[in-house]
Amino acid sequence: MTKDYGKLKDVSEHFTENKLQEILLDVHKGQKANVLNWYFNEASAKGDNYLSTVNKIKIVGNVDGKEVQVSLVVKSLPNNIGRRNTYRSVEFFRNEILFYTKVVPKFQEFLESKGHTEVLCIPHHLASVMDGINDYIALEDVTPLGYRPICRQNCINANQCAMILRTVARFHAISFAYKDQKTEDFKEISENVNETYLSDDHWNWYKRFHQRVINIAKNALAMEYPGSKAEKRFNSYEFGVLYQKVSEFCNRKYHPTSIITQGDSWVPNFLTKDTDGTEALMLDFQLARCSSPVLDISMCIYGCTEKSLWDEHFDKLLKLYYDELSKTISLLGSNPENLYPWSTFMKEVKEQFIFGVVLALEMIPFSLLDESESFDLDAIIKNDQAVDVDDVWTVSNIKTQNGRLRLANVIAHAVENGFL
Ligand SMILES: Nc1ncnc2c1ncn2[C@@H]1O[C@H](COP(=O)(O)OP(=O)(O)O)[C@@H](O)[C@H]1O
Ligand SMILES: [Mg+2]
Repeated sequence: MTKDYGKLKDVSEHFTENKLQEILLDVHKGQKANVLNWYFNEASAKGDNYLSTVNKIKIVGNVDGKEVQVSLVVKSLPNNIGRRNTYRSVEFFRNEILFYTKVVPKFQEFLESKGHTEVLCIPHHLASVMDGINDYIALEDVTPLGYRPICRQNCINANQCAMILRTVARFHAISFAYKDQKTEDFKEISENVNETYLSDDHWNWYKRFHQRVINIAKNALAMEYPGSKAEKRFNSYEFGVLYQKVSEFCNRKYHPTSIITQGDSWVPNFLTKDTDGTEALMLDFQLARCSSPVLDISMCIYGCTEKSLWDEHFDKLLKLYYDELSKTISLLGSNPENLYPWSTFMKEVKEQFIFGVVLALEMIPFSLLDESESFDLDAIIKNDQAVDVDDVWTVSNIKTQNGRLRLANVIAHAVENGFL
């Protein structure tokens, strides 16, 4: 088959055969590489990603005379300029690329000095470009290592949730120890992650869509828990107040307990080798921020698990997260009791679990869509102009009782526990 240069160019002007050659050399640690060909596959089902285009690519070549293959996942800016503008894709790419190129190398260096590189479970970054036009990020495809998506409906059981929380805890522990031992360096690396989603600057971008998901939640409460304390409490919030509250938490970069968080901790952003096991890998740092770790945990628990699980496991999951965090902070040579005592953690749970509620307002309606209902952005956004995200993410009231309960129960649980 002839080499399809057009496909490379579709990813980015800077994603060239030369770049593939460099990647082969880098992965196989050789002197001389020759690219024989490359093969593209769509990485994810249509509708899973809006802000970016994701491709799986296999490079076949020789390194020092030996035939080799390297599988990549390459995220790039959507070719549709209107879609880039609608979703502010460039800002999200910038955040993720800076995370992989400025934060991760520092974390790796730190972990190497401790002899514990295994603590950081993310794919290898192989190449990226960030010029605002041709941005892409190439990562090692972890599928050949046995990693797979956890489930389709984004609703996980207690073991799966525990697995994700342990992985997230280890990730958070790196920042706590790093910040403790290299305070100035931490400050420097944290300048690379900036709030891409929830802040005053993005309110106009998000406002109409926020109103839409609030209305969906009100409908779920009215149908499932009419007249309840949960309904009254939720409806008592003036429009915009919930957004304001959570954006304040998202923008606490310099708070003593603020660390690098994943920012988008829902099921599609984790892969695992064993769906009921212990090992997960984290993906997708487009929303990485410097905040309380509770933001990630609240998003994962409220967005990806159900009431039946919280009734039995809510406190256990918090404890499990905290134990793994403390254990890893100690492993990395700092004292968890000083850095993040249980009492501070629980204070932040009380204060900031509301973040999980606000994110669940969108995560749950999205999770309940089936593939046929996903939005064909390229059909809706036809020219270069940005459209309002609310004109694209046209989710509507939840049709099934189970689905409505999933959302209404998040609000009821948060009200009962004083989070909302
Ligand atoms: N390194 C990787 N190896 C294997 N699969 C990946 C990798 N990176 C991403 N994926 C798959 O592609 C999907 C989209 O990637 P993600 O980084 O989450 O992009 P987006 O920002 O568009 O959500 C993931 O949910 C996962 O299934
Ligand atoms: Mg993702």
